[in-house]
Amino acid sequence: MALITLRQLLDHAGEHGYGMPAFNITNLETLQSVMEAADKTNSPVLLQASRTARIYMDDIFLKHMFMAAVERYPHLPICLHLDHGNELGTCMSAMEMGFSSVMMDGSLEADAKTPSEYDYNVSETASVVEVAHARGISVEGELGVLGSLETGMGEKEDGHGFDGMLERNKLLTDPTEAMDFVAQTGVDALAVACGTSHGAYKFSRRPNGDILAMDVIEKIHAKLPDTHLVMHGASGVPQYLQDLINAHGGDMPQTFGVPLEEIERGIKSGVRKINIDTDIRMAMSGSMREFLQENRSSFDIRAILKPGRKRVVDLCIERNERFGCAGQAEKIKPLSLTQMAERYTAGILRTKAA
Ligand code: G3H
Ligand code: 13P
Ligand code: ZN
Repeated sequence: MALITLRQLLDHAGEHGYGMPAFNITNLETLQSVMEAADKTNSPVLLQASRTARIYMDDIFLKHMFMAAVERYPHLPICLHLDHGNELGTCMSAMEMGFSSVMMDGSLEADAKTPSEYDYNVSETASVVEVAHARGISVEGELGVLGSLETGMGEKEDGHGFDGMLERNKLLTDPTEAMDFVAQTGVDALAVACGTSHGAYKFSRRPNGDILAMDVIEKIHAKLPDTHLVMHGASGVPQYLQDLINAHGGDMPQTFGVPLEEIERGIKSGVRKINIDTDIRMAMSGSMREFLQENRSSFDIRAILKPGRKRVVDLCIERNERFGCAGQAEKIKPLSLTQMAERYTAGILRTKAA
């Protein structure tokens, strides 16, 4: 079994200077596609499921699908990560069903809508870290609220995220506060706010430094060179997928995502985990639209889903190659959760202030 923790995977990525795409899984086809791309590029795999995805798929189906990926590809290190856990209970249930890593997103309160106070974020995150590290499981925390630097609006996507205006400083992680947050919580990875947001509508123009603050990432990295940084809302929203959707009955207004070059720049400054969901959804749904429009009498769901699987594989291959994780799988020997727990206890993996 090649289950790996986020901490071990990102430590390897940090040591060798590459980034890990964290792909959100929504159903069997998205999982199969991500795995096929990893297999073709000999990449380690970072699979993540949101709370909404857990509900959609059902925890038991999801658990066995994840374990099927581990069994089907025993040569690939695979990390199973909970995306945007909202409270300790959600993180605990993920740990109990076999996730090797959890995110405690304390930047919002447990309702996943209200921006939280700093002290709340620290204490909720620290309690998840305590429970998780005792089991060898990794924890990602988040500091700063995701939202648009163009409009000042927080982002609300599928019921997750703040819906309203925020001051610019709330939409950007403060580097000094980040140091304190990591020291007090002991998180293994830190998600930062730098102008990205979830979903397709991130920017109304190709982003420059005013609206995608890569300099903030560089400042955080300068203060926390050993902390693995995470970019949420990191889909590229490629033009070819917008065109595919719109050419086949869709009606997506022109939009811009995070250019791959900006992510490559981030990887040079400590970004190790790059969250991608929207691009997968667009590749899959655009392909389904195209197939259905071109095959109007078809109702074979395998035929309808197959072209999307191919497009998601191609997209994931490109991300694996551009972020540098292609070719790394065989270089990693996953440690068990027990071994990781021993390392936390021994203080070898300490990120928390002494
Ligand atoms: O956190 C945002 C991800 O894209 C997950 O979205 O909650 O609709 O699965 P979701
Ligand atoms: P995108 O919506 O840009 O794909 O971001 C996904 C994400 O951050 C999941 O946590
Ligand atoms: Zn996210």
